[in-house]
Amino acid sequence: MYLKELTLHNFRNYARLNLTFESDMILLVGQNAQGKTNILESIVYTCTGRSHRTSRDREVIRWGEDFAYIKAVVEKRIGKNIIEIGLDTNRKKMININGTSAKRLGELMGNINGVLFSPEDLRLIKDGPAERRRFLDMEISQIMPKYFYRLQQYNRVLAQRNDLLKDINRQPSLIKSLDVWNEQLALSGAYIIFKRNEFIEELMKISREIHSSITFGKEILDIIYKPSIPHEGGVDEIAKNFLEILKSSEQKDIDRGITSKGCHRDDIIFMINNTDTRIYGSQGQQRTVVLSLKLSEIEIMERLTGEAPILLLDDVMSELDEHRQKMLLDSIGKVQTIITTTDIRDVSMMDGRQYEVYRVDNGNVWRQL
Ligand SMILES: Nc1ncnc2c1ncn2[C@@H]1O[C@H](COP(=O)(O)OP(=O)(O)O)[C@@H](O)[C@H]1O
Ligand SMILES: [Mg+2]
Repeated sequence: MYLKELTLHNFRNYARLNLTFESDMILLVGQNAQGKTNILESIVYTCTGRSHRTSRDREVIRWGEDFAYIKAVVEKRIGKNIIEIGLDTNRKKMININGTSAKRLGELMGNINGVLFSPEDLRLIKDGPAERRRFLDMEISQIMPKYFYRLQQYNRVLAQRNDLLKDINRQPSLIKSLDVWNEQLALSGAYIIFKRNEFIEELMKISREIHSSITFGKEILDIIYKPSIPHEGGVDEIAKNFLEILKSSEQKDIDRGITSKGCHRDDIIFMINNTDTRIYGSQGQQRTVVLSLKLSEIEIMERLTGEAPILLLDDVMSELDEHRQKMLLDSIGKVQTIITTTDIRDVSMMDGRQYEVYRVDNGNVWRQL
């Protein structure tokens, strides 16, 4: 799919912006803090309904204003999609898909698919498990809206179960109602674990090959799912195990007032040649793992949806050596790519591809001819 048009109103440092793209390679060039990432962030909004930098919508509304608006038009193989997002300090987020207002955030998923690669993605390897779960959830939700609904449901039930655990401490007779929450948690949780496992297997198959070719066959990548509930078998079996584990940790959970086991505790481990990249990997190896993952995501999305996603590369070119840059640019073929950089010279190997360059300066953008 190709992003053809992007309109912003009071989004971050943009009072008004209207861009029309013609090529499949777009460069946004400008010094730091001028608004390059803000543009990518607005595109991420149209893909997932949220920012990748903050969970608070009001942060992206231009200072002193109380309403922000984003509109994106993408062309697909057949037809096009128009997505509009409205953010208001006093009201619920507004989402319009081809002129019709969406009732749930999940309806947005899959209309515009994007893969973002930024230096902060290294956190995926280095940070705690929450970061890796977020990665999984974002990716799977985009290709499978049902997953997103189940996840929302799981989080709701989890919060209610945790509230109840605290209440039981004060009023032990409430323990009777715990079973209902256990069952609901196990049911939605089992689906999540099943899908995460499926996705990780697919991701590993593809990224292993990519990683091997980036490293000239020197490194073998393994991605290992570490769920806190056994993931073997189908959804029913996982649900059964889930329920048993909830039961056996019930007393501990009541004492602590928190649910100790479940997919909110899952993790993934990235191994290179059988050692944990998080602990033993060099910065360069970690970066290569992330690059392999991103390239795999593109392939998975394309396979599942029949459309290549839009690739957003935020300030990563200067971090990749020439070989990795070449791998990246070679493998993205016809994928529309939007690249931000402070120095256009950091983007090599542009030969042969048609591209557009835009200058970004303090919330103003103009095409460089
Ligand atoms: N809500 C906001 N309203 C107005 N300006 C903002 C808002 N949030 C961030 N900014 C400004 O946006 C700029 C950062 O933009 P960003 O896209 O991250 O820069 P870069 O070009 O380095 O990627 C900063 O100048 C910051 O002050
Ligand atoms: Mg930036």
